[in-house]
Amino acid sequence: MRKKIVVGNWKMNKTVAEAGELAAAVLEKLDDGIVTCEVGIAPPFPALTEVGKVVEWSDIRLVAQNCHFEDDGAYTGEVSVHMLASLGCGYVIVGHSERRQYFGETNQTVNLRLKKALDEGMQVIMCVGETLEERENGVTEKVVTEQVRQGLKDISDLGGVVLAYEPVWAIGTGRTATPEQAEEVHASIRRTISEMYGELAAGHLRIQYGGSVKPSNAAELFAKPNIDGGLIGGASLKAEDFVAIVKAAS
Ligand code: PGA
Repeated sequence: MRKKIVVGNWKMNKTVAEAGELAAAVLEKLDDGIVTCEVGIAPPFPALTEVGKVVEWSDIRLVAQNCHFEDDGAYTGEVSVHMLASLGCGYVIVGHSERRQYFGETNQTVNLRLKKALDEGMQVIMCVGETLEERENGVTEKVVTEQVRQGLKDISDLGGVVLAYEPVWAIGTGRTATPEQAEEVHASIRRTISEMYGELAAGHLRIQYGGSVKPSNAAELFAKPNIDGGLIGGASLKAEDFVAIVKAAS
């Protein structure tokens, strides 16, 4: 049985003080229910320390939204894996579609970041997903398979890896993939992983869904056999909505 994992990706939202308050609200609301899934919060970099303090004694994982593939050096604006680790981050997201779309991330740079993070003992959530145009052209499976294969290039052990399928057309648009559409792609990703790493590894790998997950659609999505939780953007900015989604995965 794969343990579901729900992570709130706060993107570029919340000041340090606001982030601390939101994390505290999430923690408080989680405390009055049974949570059986893994839960993480990915605040923006400046708020990692503050959120880390709030969740320190809880089971909530501190997650970073990105990392660089070098240890240090002249890379203005970037943050290295060991810097994140020093703040208590145990997870990092790589290859989010907004990074691919606006900041020139490619399957190759995603692969470099992923390798670096795994080398440093950090767990990684690698995002994949097709654009609307790609879906309409019928190349969803081809694009996602390529992202998975290239992103995981030269990775021999999937132990520290979680994948997130996030159709770009569903992110922040209010337009969710239907549970059937999502399940179809999740199943195809698991087939690809099985071809690459064997059936056992494929059976253990967790694949989150992301893209307009809300309290009203979470349970239906998480009920699908190949959907192992969610990467939650907009709805994670409201403690009650995020906690409702966590409970739907529990
Ligand atoms: P959304 O974002 O839930 O706001 O659609 C999901 C994500 O980008 O991780």
